[in-house]
Amino acid sequence: MKIVVIGGTGLIGSRLVTNLRSQGHEVVAASPKNGVNSVTGDGLAKALKGASVVIDVTNSPSWEDSEVLKFFETSTRNLLAYEAAEGVGHHVALSVVGTERLLESGFFRAKLAQENLIKASKNPYTIVRATQFFEFVKQIVDYSTEGNTVRMPSALIQPMGADDVASAVARIATNPPVNGTVEIGGPEQFRLDELARRFLAARQDPHQNPREVICDPHGRYYGIEVSERALLPDSNAQLGETRFETWLAQSVAQIANASPQSASVGR
Ligand SMILES: NC(=O)c1ccc[n+]([C@@H]2O[C@H](COP(=O)([O-])OP(=O)(O)OC[C@H]3O[C@@H](n4cnc5c(N)ncnc54)[C@H](OP(=O)(O)O)[C@@H]3O)[C@@H](O)[C@H]2O)c1
Repeated sequence: MKIVVIGGTGLIGSRLVTNLRSQGHEVVAASPKNGVNSVTGDGLAKALKGASVVIDVTNSPSWEDSEVLKFFETSTRNLLAYEAAEGVGHHVALSVVGTERLLESGFFRAKLAQENLIKASKNPYTIVRATQFFEFVKQIVDYSTEGNTVRMPSALIQPMGADDVASAVARIATNPPVNGTVEIGGPEQFRLDELARRFLAARQDPHQNPREVICDPHGRYYGIEVSERALLPDSNAQLGETRFETWLAQSVAQIANASPQSASVGR
């Protein structure tokens, strides 16, 4: 099959491209770096020629409210129109578990707009909603940091590794469209404050002052209030296998090998 990965150079996109190529598919890694822009339409017609499946794993360069909305609306409208013209049989888009419960955030309003455009189209589709990636935990912790204090609510989270996200999206994309939403998540639940503590405990950066994680009922998840179960997937979600501690240990080792002076954990 010819499969086009829009956002094929990103965290998930690059893993998806490798995974699908290893299964023998013809895969185009489409992104502005490779001359394909889903917002302007540049290079789209050529990239989609003869494609059976298009997978949208783009992200907006700006998360400012109006910018991110404009990005997902324009990009999604373009993709759906070019795919319809080319007769592409499956549009797959990566979204986020709990999107409709997180609408205080402009980012999630934009993801909901993306989902609604897909659902309103005539294109055969599958929306894949994933929980937060392990690779995103650093950003969550940094966002809630003030000085040496990290204020986190105790809401539950069921994060998953980017490799497991890519495997699940690859599996779903190479099956027929469900014209609905599939949820994917990690194998374990954590309290947000506990996850932040575990993440920071694995860091061994001697140049940073240790940060203390405080469980604060008014603490925010990436700037928004979240209820106890807002970030959790449905009970029928497909679950990845990689555990957070396994990923954390691998990340620390990788970073220590790359730069023996510093072992701070990131993407
Ligand atoms: N972070 C999480 O925990 C989480 C959880 C669930 C779902 N998601 C969703 O997963 C998706 C992918 O996230 P990610 O972390 O893999 O993103 P990422 O690493 O930031 O990659 C974004 C990709 O989008 C491409 N892109 C940007 N502007 C584009 C344009 N105009 N046309 C075509 N491609 C464009 C980038 O291409 P260049 O490299 O050329 O700039 C890059 O390949 C997002 O939609 C996000 O909402 C995230």
